[in-house]
Amino acid sequence: MQPQNLPTSIHVALWKPEIHPNTGNIARLCAANGLPLHLVGTLGFRIDERYVDLRREAGLDELRAGLPESRLFYFSAHAERLYTDVRYRVGDCLVFGPESKGLPKELLLGNWDRALKIPMDSPRVRSLNLATAVAIAAYEALRQIRGS
Ligand SMILES: C[S@@+](CC[C@H](N)C(=O)[O-])C[C@H]1O[C@@H](n2cnc3c(N)ncnc32)[C@H](O)[C@@H]1O
Repeated sequence: MQPQNLPTSIHVALWKPEIHPNTGNIARLCAANGLPLHLVGTLGFRIDERYVDLRREAGLDELRAGLPESRLFYFSAHAERLYTDVRYRVGDCLVFGPESKGLPKELLLGNWDRALKIPMDSPRVRSLNLATAVAIAAYEALRQIRGS
């Protein structure tokens, strides 16, 4: 089956991504799995991955308005809840922050039960690379939803 014929399972959203190759990497992952990729806020570059279902939103309010049935999960190394503790469902949207700043603290505190972390053992590293974090989280959600 071609990726574009797969049923939509989850959404991936990047808020104000800053590093072109990271977004390109994530676009390839989304294209390979038939996942819509939402680029939220102003970008300093263009993406033209051929097979990705690319969607643009001006801000997080527009993202939420466009996905009224979806649960949004906010990924941060500062969260408490483990990303593996969620039972993901079709339609869920995984939201990630920009490379330099991450997601805003107020957004995380206001959605603390939906703020998720990927564990890291060393206190010397503050966060994972954005594309690595997306890959880990997206494949866990897909593993649960697809059963493999
Ligand atoms: C390079 S990190 C941002 C680092 C930023 N300086 C900070 O402290 O939040 C880019 C994005 O990747 C995701 N990310 C990176 N490491 C993560 C982790 N351990 N758990 C959850 N999300 C993570 C988050 O969405 C984060 O906003």
